[in-house]
Amino acid sequence: MTHLEIKELSKVYFIEDKGIKAVDRVSLRIDKGDFISIIGHSGSGKTTLLSIIGGILRPSSGNILFNGDDVYRFDENRLSEYRADRIGYIFQFASLLPVLTVRENLLLPTIFSTNGVHNKEKVLDEYLGMVGLGDKKNAYPSQLSGGQQRRVAIARALMNDPEIILGDEPTGDLDEETEQDIMDLLKKINLERNITLILVTHDTGLAKDAARRLRMDHGKMEEIRGNGRNK
Ligand SMILES: Nc1ncnc2c1ncn2[C@@H]1O[C@H](COP(=O)(O)OP(=O)(O)O)[C@@H](O)[C@H]1O
Ligand SMILES: [Mg+2]
Repeated sequence: MTHLEIKELSKVYFIEDKGIKAVDRVSLRIDKGDFISIIGHSGSGKTTLLSIIGGILRPSSGNILFNGDDVYRFDENRLSEYRADRIGYIFQFASLLPVLTVRENLLLPTIFSTNGVHNKEKVLDEYLGMVGLGDKKNAYPSQLSGGQQRRVAIARALMNDPEIILGDEPTGDLDEETEQDIMDLLKKINLERNITLILVTHDTGLAKDAARRLRMDHGKMEEIRGNGRNK
């Protein structure tokens, strides 16, 4: 079954009586374990599309089907379960809470998990080790570099064992080398855990790492013909 099906999705924002079509009839089928990159100019609708996929922004029309179920027909409980347990979000900035340690930041999403993450501390240790920060559990975000903070954000996105990871320019403010490290880490997660990865990136070089490449322009989506190179 298609993991995620996006059907004729549109989002219009209204400012006073003026409508802005941020997403314009986007359709897309995504299989489990796909790695998709989305590029496009600022304002082309990438963040809006990710927010709708992630269950945090209702579309104006169209549907998101997750394993065949229409996400925006879920009641509030099921929708929050979808957000908390099926989706892992990596935002443009690492968005860690500065007054919490790395460990505490990682535990935050588990509070909202409905399937109950068992052995939280063990899971936490495993993911911190995987992103190469096993020794930073009790550090505060301000004691970490930008790349390390991003690694914490990736580990945090994994905590509730999601099926889909959405990354909104997760390497945007990092230097090139760190950027590639983070990309390699995301690729590894995609490959080893078969987690569907949808990554918005401003960098066409990084976008090439994806098996499927898409471009957004004024709310419309087009597939970029791949060069055949896969993960
Ligand atoms: N909350 C909002 N209210 C009104 N307009 C918005 C809002 N969010 C985004 N927009 C507009 O929608 C369009 C798409 O924005 P966005 O999805 O953030 O694009 P991108 O992530 O590609 O830069 C832009 O024209 C932006 O100004
Ligand atoms: Mg954006």
